[in-house]
Amino acid sequence: PLRLDIKRRLTARSDRVKSADLHPTEPWMVVSLYSGTVVVWNHETQVLYALLFSPTCHSSWMPFLSLVVFFCCDVALLSVNQTEGKLRFLCSVFSDDMLIKLWDWDRKWLCSQVFEGHTHYVMQIVINPRDNNQFASASLDRTIKVWQLGSKAPNFTLEGHEKGVNCIDYYSGGDKPYLISGADDRLVKIWDYQNKTCVQTLEGHAQNVTCVSFHPELPVILTGGEDGTVRVWHSNTYRLENTLNYGMERVWCICGQPGSNSVAIGYDEGSIIIKLGRVEPVMSMDSSGKVIWARHSEVQQANLKAVVETEIKDGEKLLLSVKDMGSCEIYPQTIQHSPNGRFVVVCGDGEYIIYTAMALRNKSFGSAQEFIWAHDSSQYAIREGNSVVKIFKNFKEKKAFKPDFGVEGIFGGLLLGVRSNSGLAFYDWDNSELIRRIEIQPKHVFWSDSGELVCIATDESFFVLHYLPERVSAAQESKEEMTEDGIENCVGFSDHLSIVLGEVQEVVKTGLWVGDCFIYTNSVNRLNYYVGGEIITIAHMDRMMYLLGYIPKDDRLYLGDKELNIISYSLLLSVLEYQTAVMRKDFSTADKVLPAIPKEQQTRVAHFLEKQGFRQQALAVSTDPEHKFELALQLGELKTAYQLALKAESEQKWKQLAELATTKCQFSLAQECLHQAQDYGGLLLLATTSGNTDMVGQLAEGAERDGKTNVAFLTYFMQGR
Ligand SMILES: *[C@@H]1O[C@H](CO)[C@@H](O)[C@H](O)[C@H]1NC(C)=O
Ligand SMILES: *[C@@H]1O[C@H](CO)[C@@H](O)[C@H](O)[C@H]1NC(C)=O
Ligand SMILES: *[C@@H]1O[C@H](CO)[C@@H](O)[C@H](O)[C@H]1NC(C)=O
Ligand SMILES: *[C@@H]1O[C@H](CO)[C@@H](O)[C@H](O)[C@H]1NC(C)=O
Ligand SMILES: *[C@@H]1O[C@H](CO)[C@@H](O)[C@H](O)[C@H]1NC(C)=O
Repeated sequence: PLRLDIKRRLTARSDRVKSADLHPTEPWMVVSLYSGTVVVWNHETQVLYALLFSPTCHSSWMPFLSLVVFFCCDVALLSVNQTEGKLRFLCSVFSDDMLIKLWDWDRKWLCSQVFEGHTHYVMQIVINPRDNNQFASASLDRTIKVWQLGSKAPNFTLEGHEKGVNCIDYYSGGDKPYLISGADDRLVKIWDYQNKTCVQTLEGHAQNVTCVSFHPELPVILTGGEDGTVRVWHSNTYRLENTLNYGMERVWCICGQPGSNSVAIGYDEGSIIIKLGRVEPVMSMDSSGKVIWARHSEVQQANLKAVVETEIKDGEKLLLSVKDMGSCEIYPQTIQHSPNGRFVVVCGDGEYIIYTAMALRNKSFGSAQEFIWAHDSSQYAIREGNSVVKIFKNFKEKKAFKPDFGVEGIFGGLLLGVRSNSGLAFYDWDNSELIRRIEIQPKHVFWSDSGELVCIATDESFFVLHYLPERVSAAQESKEEMTEDGIENCVGFSDHLSIVLGEVQEVVKTGLWVGDCFIYTNSVNRLNYYVGGEIITIAHMDRMMYLLGYIPKDDRLYLGDKELNIISYSLLLSVLEYQTAVMRKDFSTADKVLPAIPKEQQTRVAHFLEKQGFRQQALAVSTDPEHKFELALQLGELKTAYQLALKAESEQKWKQLAELATTKCQFSLAQECLHQAQDYGGLLLLATTSGNTDMVGQLAEGAERDGKTNVAFLTYFMQGR
């Protein structure tokens, strides 16, 4: 079955809807009501933009460019100002009867042609997307007619419905010459308009069918009827996949939009927008920078290595040359490279096919709800239904097993992860024995390349755990430490993050590891990385982006969006390597990496060291005098601090240093610092408590000279002068 997530995004109550449409680029829905009102919604922000009254108008909309046009008994033109989001009324033209008429936009709306042939009301016309000179019409005279511009009479007629035909649509994909129609006989018919036969009849609606639509992106047909339901049919198998009933009475229109998952539906009692299917792009990148993606069933490849380096700017779309690789036998919903990059697996419609990544030759296939690769590419696992996991090695089934609490999802990596309603269980790939069960409901599991760290992301937070394989092998040998939850203490919290960053929950959307640094995108479109308890933001993005991979040689991260655009951000490998080495307390490696880190990044690295508690190292690395001074003070390094204070010539620094010198009984240094800071009060305290007559004498004169009369008075007084 087609795994379609269906989510309701907007519900707008209103009078009976005549038609609804989505703007091609903006998140706007226009709805025209029988009452003559036209409503414009922003369906992302759920804000009502405009209400317009046009008492004679009750027909459909056609948006093109930034204009929205609607044709009714009269024809009206509206322009939408992209900046203001406001509608502006331009003009209107009148028509009268129910024939099909062609109005010429360029010739001041001259009625330039009339098409005759139908013997009853014409309910809808649609223009053939493959040939703009051809259109089809649906009529209550029970027929569908196909017309050619320039010819008064119909080209041909499709007959088969037993009652009036209410609606039609053309198939927009290039591969099939199909039309779809819905009628009062409660049937939906699919027609081949080249050989003029009915290819399929879809039965299911309990009342008149009022609207039909081939989805422009997904392999589905959507139909709506007076029975209040919207039905979702697979456009290849014609199986009924889903019946949606939102309780808003009769359905009047359905509208999808190319490049979008949103579908607008108009009812007796209002309109709603649903999101159909996965929004994640079906794309995958191997470690050398070859990206494979699927547009519908067509698989394409692009090579990031071919992009000229000087043309790459952070956050900007890369211009790629795309190579067609052929089409896939199933409708792909995910595509994943094997860790070694030699294979790609495509999953969808409950099936998987493994192809060679180079030539897209099929290597193996089968049925599966989900497919995941093991760490080492020679093994993979699939989920069948909600109870069985099968492990394959070298494309041969090795083991099938039923985990104790069922299987809701599986996760690849060093260990085989299985999610059930009781939590997450990790199994050994080789013997499928339980290694550890954890009470957590993960969305994603990401293993680092070394297999030492694993990030488990849930709906609200993420956890980074240490995996200790030596405990596992010890326990497996002794068999003693096995509990029903597996081996105790073989995973331990490296850190626990149920992070609330300024009251924002950190929800990982996509992620990957580079060394011990976990790079991820979150729910507010930030690109971050996490290392040693710290979160560093790489970029704020303007839309949802999906991490594809990191190419160390380029010092770049690559991300894709749902329109299959690829962007990149620079992220220095040297910094990541340095931080990884620090996390492992491997300072000799860190020192080797350091020279590769550019000067401007060194202070950032120094702050990282400081936060990890390595102040001495931070002092050595930092290039920022302020930071260095702070560190020198914290470390009690008077000499270093003194040199920095000399350069900085700041009263504040001298005061801070004087304080430190005093606590360390370095009185002559303290005296010099107080002198530099012109802190007469401090000098007085120092001179009197140390009983230093000479100093008191000098202070009296200095203070008098500088007009510090209070101090001068006290010092003279004490000396009896
Ligand atoms: C849209 O509105 C903006 C802001 O009021 C204005 O500057 C612009 O000229 C308008 N554009 C059109 C095409 O009317
Ligand atoms: C439909 O019209 C086109 C163009 O006028 C013509 O070439 C074609 O033969 C016509 N087909 C039928 C079935 O009349
Ligand atoms: C018309 O074409 C369809 C495929 O689009 C085919 O299934 C059907 O058998 C054809 N019908 C006739 C009568 O040739
Ligand atoms: C269905 O259409 C017929 C006309 O063909 C109409 O009489 C009937 O009322 C419609 N059904 C509903 C439920 O409106
Ligand atoms: C795999 O390839 C073979 C030969 O090219 C072909 O006959 C078969 O249909 C393919 N199967 C799948 C599921 O792609």
